[in-house]
Amino acid sequence: MTRRLSHGERLCVASHNAGKVREIRALIEPFGMTAISAGELDLPEPEETEKTFIGNAELKARAAAEASKLPSLSDDSGLEVHGLGGAPGIYSARWAGPEKNFDIAMEKVMAELGARDHLSDEKRSANFTCALSLAWPDGACVSFEGKVFGHLVWPMRGDRGFGYDPIFVAEGRSETFGEMDPEEKHAISHRAAAFAQFKAACLPQETEA
Ligand code: IMP
Repeated sequence: MTRRLSHGERLCVASHNAGKVREIRALIEPFGMTAISAGELDLPEPEETEKTFIGNAELKARAAAEASKLPSLSDDSGLEVHGLGGAPGIYSARWAGPEKNFDIAMEKVMAELGARDHLSDEKRSANFTCALSLAWPDGACVSFEGKVFGHLVWPMRGDRGFGYDPIFVAEGRSETFGEMDPEEKHAISHRAAAFAQFKAACLPQETEA
């Protein structure tokens, strides 16, 4: 059985991505957890050398737990475009370059797909994947993976959210993640799907949000 976190426990969010830290904080704070980010603790950002979302999430969570001596929750996630064989996938952040410019990354996705305005439904289909890993300072680690399926639109729409949100529309919706109220995104996103599993396995049972 997975070890659970206790109410009021301090957790390190093993990410330097402000968008992710904001979303993870919003998910865990209702459970009485206080979150401090790897950025706030000035922890080094480990190189993502694994080939899967879970592999990279575990690497980041373990590095943060070792350095911070706190249970550490990491997120490795990305956009998988079916017409591009799953790219950018685990390289989603890297497609934005050292400047982390996601306008360029979204332009690149659409350019690689060949045509911006007349794409077939098959080419436009995509999903986000999120792996969440929780590591303890003693080296124990558990991971969970969630997905949300949908399609890409062009041009970009909306300035909420982060990363590739302005070009992704989830199944059954018409607005992009970039146009959505953050709470609505939290209810259906890949991060929410992974978080639901994390919550069932690792959060204090007696505390409901
Ligand atoms: P990494 O997990 O730090 O390698 O970076 C994942 C990248 O995937 C982020 O920088 C975003 O570009 C993208 N990504 C992950 N989750 C989301 C999301 O919820 N919305 C938009 N982009 C996302």
